[in-house]
Formats: sequence, structure tokens, C-alpha cells
Amino acid sequence: MSRSTSEEFVQQVRSAIDIVEVISEYVPLKKSGRSMVGLCPFHSEKTPSFHVSAERQFFHCFGCKAGGDVFSFLMQMEQLTFPEALRKLAERAGIPLPAADPPLGDNQNTAKLAMYEAHKLAAKLYHHVLTSMPHGQKALEYLRRRGLTEQTIAEYQIGYAPDSWDFLATWLKKRGFSLPVMVEAGLLARGENGQRIYDRFRGRIMFPIHDTQGEVIGFGGRSLDGSQPKYLNSPETPLFSKSHLLFNLHRARTAIRKRKQAVLFEGYVDVITAWQAGVQQGIATLGTALTEHQARLLRRNAEQVILCYDGDAAGQEAAEKAVSLLQQAGCSVRVATLPPGVDPDEYIRRNGAEAFSQNVLLQALPVTAFRLQQLRARHALRDADDQARYVQEALQLIAQLPSAVERDMYERQLAEEFSLSLDAVKAEARKAYRRQKIQQQRDKVASAWNNSINNGKFTLTKTLPPAHQTAERMLLYYMIRSREVAERVQQECGARFYTDEHSALAAYLYAYYAEGNPEDPGRFLHYVQDEKCKQLASGLAMMECKEHVSDEEISDYIRQVNSYPLRAQLDELRAEQQRLALQAANEVDEAARRQTVMEAARLGMRIHQLENALKEG
Ligand code: UTP
Ligand code: MN
Repeated sequence: MSRSTSEEFVQQVRSAIDIVEVISEYVPLKKSGRSMVGLCPFHSEKTPSFHVSAERQFFHCFGCKAGGDVFSFLMQMEQLTFPEALRKLAERAGIPLPAADPPLGDNQNTAKLAMYEAHKLAAKLYHHVLTSMPHGQKALEYLRRRGLTEQTIAEYQIGYAPDSWDFLATWLKKRGFSLPVMVEAGLLARGENGQRIYDRFRGRIMFPIHDTQGEVIGFGGRSLDGSQPKYLNSPETPLFSKSHLLFNLHRARTAIRKRKQAVLFEGYVDVITAWQAGVQQGIATLGTALTEHQARLLRRNAEQVILCYDGDAAGQEAAEKAVSLLQQAGCSVRVATLPPGVDPDEYIRRNGAEAFSQNVLLQALPVTAFRLQQLRARHALRDADDQARYVQEALQLIAQLPSAVERDMYERQLAEEFSLSLDAVKAEARKAYRRQKIQQQRDKVASAWNNSINNGKFTLTKTLPPAHQTAERMLLYYMIRSREVAERVQQECGARFYTDEHSALAAYLYAYYAEGNPEDPGRFLHYVQDEKCKQLASGLAMMECKEHVSDEEISDYIRQVNSYPLRAQLDELRAEQQRLALQAANEVDEAARRQTVMEAARLGMRIHQLENALKEG
């Protein structure tokens, strides 16, 4: 496909798609001024700094600087290559792909398509074995014994991989799949010597794992005979990334959004049993601790997350870690507790759906109450000393709450529980609260200090960007919108922007206009290849300055930029002059002092010259 047809096609797709519509499917957006605003899907935040402009057809996050057009959004969001994103959007817009040499022609993409196809077929095949073949009999009986209905087994497309080394391999080969690609897809495995290729999953109950689009991309396989590991999961593959996925999310998404709530379990079977019991908003991680990425994925779909982990020590510890991650991602969190040693699946089987909803989910505790409960369980509370220690630690937990009303509530509870006077508890609580504030202040100062050291600047306050940087940004702002300004700046500043990334973006702009492209920030964004430049450009394109700018103003900015070397030199000389003055004042030897004063005077003259040059320039 020639570059021009491809660009034409890209343009055609771009103009048929509304970025706001596409992004709304991932991020709830609200109107704010001229753009739509929501919580950024690419970093954790509690207040929205993610802006989408319908007018200009791009997005930008003022927090993490992510930005771009609808293609880059989809690429980042779904981990797609550009041709994949293009294909998706073309399909959405109902625009047929150019017939000659479709964009999916390169090998890597064909391999990925084959992997999707193979997973879809393998899931079907395993399900068929489980439900209709003698091989699957034992597994099916096992699942029935665990209380899963036929309907559930069908809904989750649960399957069985026969205890054979080449059942799937043979089947895939017959259908023309490349076996090495299937190894890469994680369906097959390769022997030690690299020669033999065989089935990865053997004698296991197969739980298909889907991506958010509902495509099967991996499996969790549970052993039936107690062989280890209990669950064998797909390895990391081009389709499957444990830390980015949540089991059941594609199915639960509607319920989660409707209730604004998700229930996070530890196990696949917990999710499935809960679903069967009517809890449709359940999801689970894939055998690993919750990650920051997964927490953000959840936040995009739910406001509240109920953690429903196993009632053992490991489960509670994992819950505590998940709590922090989810809170950082901006979720409101509650923790459901189960009797020790019981997992949700068992609880539901023993006590029924009603009890699970009423006594577990509805009784889920706010985080502080959960932590107090945990703390309580760790303390023996045999005597007054134990009690006093417990109360101190409890007050420290309570002090972390930002709301005074909530703190008051817990303090009263504590007083009542240990028959203490409320005044005494309050007095201790105030101390704990103050200690906490002081510590937070210290942490803040320490981190500001560290940051400034890391930047090589020993200042505690945030410094304003130097004048030339601001001027360069303003010029770029207008250059993105006006060919005329760009041409003028090119003539008068050349490539002489003094901030590397500004100068790179300017170069893009000159090339962009030189190729005859129109004044169109959205289109320009698409033109920029480099990630850093793209971020900068989307930030500038999203800024709201006044529409029209006078020649005078542009001249001013240009002067600021062009005089930068002179001003930088002046700054250096002035610093040197001060240093000399100080040195002279501290000098004991009279001759040396006079020498230093002379030097300072010479410097002063040079400074004066430069200042004049600057005024004239
Ligand atoms: P559990 O051992 O609690 O499994 O592991 P479970 O869900 O209760 O399964 P059943 O009831 O025994 O069938 C919880 C989750 O941890 C992961 C799986 O995702 C499992 O669902 N896991 C567990 C593994 O990935 N590998 C293992 O060997 C064990
Ligand atoms: Mn279980």
C-alpha cells in the first residue's frame, strides 16, 4: 500500500470517528468548558485531569501528559499496533479496508490473529470434550459435585483438556496452525531440547480467560488429581498479560457499571459460584496479587470495590495490599470478611446465595473498621497494658481518616468498647492526630527535598520555568494553529529553540507545513511520531489561549527566545560578581582584596555592556 493511499485511508477513518464516543466507552466523561473531562485511564488519580476535545479530536492528560488522537488512544488502551487500531476503527465506521495489501499483512499481525483464532477454537473444543465426550466424564462429575449447573458451565464455557500430550497439537496442526506460533500463544509447550512440541494443558479443567472485548486469550487449568500446580495458567504471551487482566471483567462490566460496584475475589471458582448465586459484578486476579494497573482498570468501571478474599491469614494480608492500591486508584473500598478458613465458593455452597448477599457482601466493612478488626484479632487483650497498647494503635489508625465525623464515630466506639471516658479517648486521639500531621509534613518536606536534589536544584520551592521556555511554548502554541506564525518563527528563530523537546517539536511543525499539510492541531498530532513530542503537542493543542495573537506579541516571544544566550550569560556573570563581592568582603590580605575588587569591577563593566546589547537587541 503506498504511503499516500494509506494516509488517505487513515484520514477517512479519522473523520468518520468521534473520539469522544470512542473514549466514553472506556472512561466516563463529563462536559467541562469546551472539552470533556474524566479520570485518566493511564495513571492513578482522584480528580479528573484527562481532557478530550470533540472539536479538535484528541485527548490530553494534564496529570501524566498522555495524549494523542483516537488512534493513539486505542493503541495505548488496548495495547494495539497502529494497523490493529486502524482496522478496529475502520470496522466501527463501516469503512471497508483497502483491498490491495490490507494493513494486517505483516507477519507479526497474522500471528496474533492466528493466536486469537486458536484460543477461540480451543475453548470450544475443550468445552465439547467436557460436556459431550467420554474423556470429560470425570471432570464433569467433579464440577457437578461442586455445585456448578449446566447453565453455568455453558456460560463460562468451562472445558476439559484430556490427559494427552498431543490432543490439541494434532487438532491445531490439522487446521493449519503453525505449531511454533501456538507455542508462543501458550497453548502448546516446547520440550527441553527445543524439538518436541506438546500440549501445555493435560488432564485439567479449563477456565477460559477473556480480554475486555470478550475474546478468549488464555486459560486457567485446574488439576483434577491433586497434581501440582493446582492451577496452571497461560504464560505471558502477546495476547495474555496477567497483571493487566481481570478474570470475568468482560462479562461483569455491565453489572459493575450499573451498580457502580465490583466484587473482587481471589479465585476463578469464587467468581463463578458467586455469579451462579446472582452476584454478577464479580471479578478476580489471575493468581497474582492485584497490580496498580488492575486497580485503575477497576476504577474506570466501578466507584466502589468490595474485597472478598479468603478468610485465612494469607487472604487477609493480600486484602490489605489490595486496599492500598485500590484507594490510591481512587476507589472507595469495603472489605467483606468470611469465617476463618472459608473461601467465598465454600461459603455460598454451604449457606446459599441469600446468606452470602445479606451476611457477607452487605456487611462488608469500611477499611478502617476492617483494620481495627484485624488489629483486634492480633492483640490478646489480657490485661490493662494490652488494652492500652491496643487503644493507642487503634487511635493511630483512626487518625488516618480525613473526615472528622468518621474519626469521632470510631473514637466513641472505642471508648464504649473499653469503658473509657470519651474525654480521655479524645485527648489521646488529638495527640495521635497531631503526631500524624507532623509526620506527614516531614514526609512532604523530605520528598520535596529529594526531588529537588534529584533535579540537581537545591531549592525547596517550585521554581517558575525560565522566561525563554515560556516564550517557546507560547510560540509553539500559535505555530500549531497557524502556518504563518510557524513560517515567521522559522525565519526569525530558525531551529534555535533552547529547550530540546521544544526544538524537536518545532522541527516537526516546519516539516509538517513544508509537506503542504493544513492548519489542524488534530492532524498534526497524528503526524508526530515521537512519543515525547506527541505529549508536548497534545498539551499545547489542548491549552486555551486567546484565538488571535498580534504580530507584536509574537515579536516579543521571538525576542525572548533569541536573547536567551545573552541572558544566560548575564545570569552567570552576575552570580560570579556576587561571589567576588563576598570573597572580597572576607579577604584578610589587603593586596588580595584589592585584586578581587578590581576583578569584580571589570566584570561589572562587561555586565553593563551585555545589558545594553540586550536592550537594543
Ligand atoms: P485457591 O487455591 O484459593 O483456588 O487459589 P480456588 O479458587 O479456591 O480453587 P478451588 O476452589 O480449589 O478449585 C485462588 C486462585 O489463585 C490462583 C488461581 O487463579 C485460583 O483461582 N492459583 C491458585 C494459581 O494461579 N495457581 C495455583 O497453583 C493455585
Ligand atoms: Mn476454593
